[in-house]
Amino acid sequence: MTGPRVVIVEDADDIGRVGADLVAEAIARNPAASITAATGQSPIGLYAALAERYRSGAFETDAVTVFQLDEYLGLAPSDRRSLLGWMRRSFLKPLDVDADRVFPLTADGDPRKACAAFDQSIEVRGLLDIAILGLGRNGHLGFNEPPSAAESPTRVVELSAITIEDNARYWGSLADVPTRAITMGMRNLLNARQVVLLASGEVKRAIVRQALEGPIGPEVPASLLRAAKADVTVIVDRAAWGNR
Ligand code: F6R
Repeated sequence: MTGPRVVIVEDADDIGRVGADLVAEAIARNPAASITAATGQSPIGLYAALAERYRSGAFETDAVTVFQLDEYLGLAPSDRRSLLGWMRRSFLKPLDVDADRVFPLTADGDPRKACAAFDQSIEVRGLLDIAILGLGRNGHLGFNEPPSAAESPTRVVELSAITIEDNARYWGSLADVPTRAITMGMRNLLNARQVVLLASGEVKRAIVRQALEGPIGPEVPASLLRAAKADVTVIVDRAAWGNR
């Protein structure tokens, strides 16, 4: 275990460029990569830069498989808050990833069975090759809210107050944020071959420090990356890193 590589860059634009280079190289090396990718603010620049590299022929996407990282529970697919819809707009469509190459997270029928089948789909494809993740202010990855064990499977979760508060800016008000979600579990994230974790802005400074330098454990799920076999790169901007 070598531990995460921390790349400190100037600002959010640089996070996008550096992150896109990493992901573009990874897909070029492995065109049949299994990928999971976060929604939210952090990866927006990366996705835009990645789409540019795709359009200029740096890699192809017809053989990739994408596994949805997280989704609010109980929304109609057409709901404006659907995270799959967000993924389509920011990642899947710009990269021309066909719907039949995407495994959405749904809890149709028996949620336990649906989650177990989702994990099995990742496992039969040989686990994830690339996970592009953001960092919650409480240390969550996906919607693996604290505490989340390293072995946690894909499951239904209650969102924490801090996550609901942070997500309200996307949907209007606190009342617009669903309180339950499904998240890919820590187990499959930690078993990914390559993890790219992005953190931007002063608002992430305290949790970046905790995740990278605090105790490793379920109370800060991102800290578990330090004990993972994965090749982990954490890309932070100056504001998230602080003056040290
Ligand atoms: C969303 C997700 C979350 C976010 C995290 C950071 O799909 O997986 O873990 O990545 O909450 O969100 P932003 O980037 O909006 O600060």
